[in-house]
Amino acid sequence: VRRVTVSDVLKMKAEGRRIPMVTVYDYPSALIAERAGVPVVLVGDSLGMVVHGHNTTLPIRADDMIFHAQMVMRGSQNALVVVDLPFLSYATEQDAVTTARRIMQEGGGQAVKLEGGAEIAPIVRRLTEMGVPVMGHLGLTPQSQHQLGLRVQAKEVRSARKLLADARALEEAGAFGVVLELVPAELAELVSSELTIPTIGIGAGVGCDGQVQVWHDLLGIFDGKSPRHAHRFAEIGPQMEEAVRHYAEQVKEGSFPTAAQSSKMNPEVLAELKK
Ligand code: KIV
Ligand code: NA
Repeated sequence: VRRVTVSDVLKMKAEGRRIPMVTVYDYPSALIAERAGVPVVLVGDSLGMVVHGHNTTLPIRADDMIFHAQMVMRGSQNALVVVDLPFLSYATEQDAVTTARRIMQEGGGQAVKLEGGAEIAPIVRRLTEMGVPVMGHLGLTPQSQHQLGLRVQAKEVRSARKLLADARALEEAGAFGVVLELVPAELAELVSSELTIPTIGIGAGVGCDGQVQVWHDLLGIFDGKSPRHAHRFAEIGPQMEEAVRHYAEQVKEGSFPTAAQSSKMNPEVLAELKK
């Protein structure tokens, strides 16, 4: 078996096969995504929130992304591993090349994802010319959340036109796909039909060529409310809590461990010891 490539992903769109993508952040999540047959995984800088406990993705640095990419690579065999370039790590072409080099050489990922449209097209072009597969990210781009807020984007004619132009600019610059986050479903569908490269939606309707979800959201790991664009395909968090509670209770009452988790000493050795 070989790893999924960018050409495989482009072929999936050409053949009308939808592309499932999920974020993974470490060895166990990468193993599970692999076994579940997910072709493209994302080491997202959303790890700032769901793994590191920050409020935003902004504190995450290239070192953090590399650290997590390394864990993911130990569990991932066949999936195409895309790694987010963190906030302000691709402000110039030189920065982008340096960060992408580290992500691929030290982290081991096969592709990078950058937030932004036409304004970063020269950076996307430079990276792809150098052999770095690039995925774009438009709509709600969380690294700019202090400018945008965390709401649905491109709802007006002007902003919708701009998003369409940005998507075209990314494709033109060599991107192999583009995430559309929190944009109206009709716009996402229009962008998807206009582009040759696949669109990967999150909160962007079913008309995208693929979908991406955050690991912890789709598994229902945190309690409380999930974002509207997320669906809890399981309730793993409460199950984890139950298991740990049972464990703690059984330790307190002395019913764990049992003989099954223990080993016995040879009676003669014991007799000798007790003399
Ligand atoms: O960091 C992330 O998880 C992402 C996806 C939501 C697209 O960028
Ligand atoms: Na991200």
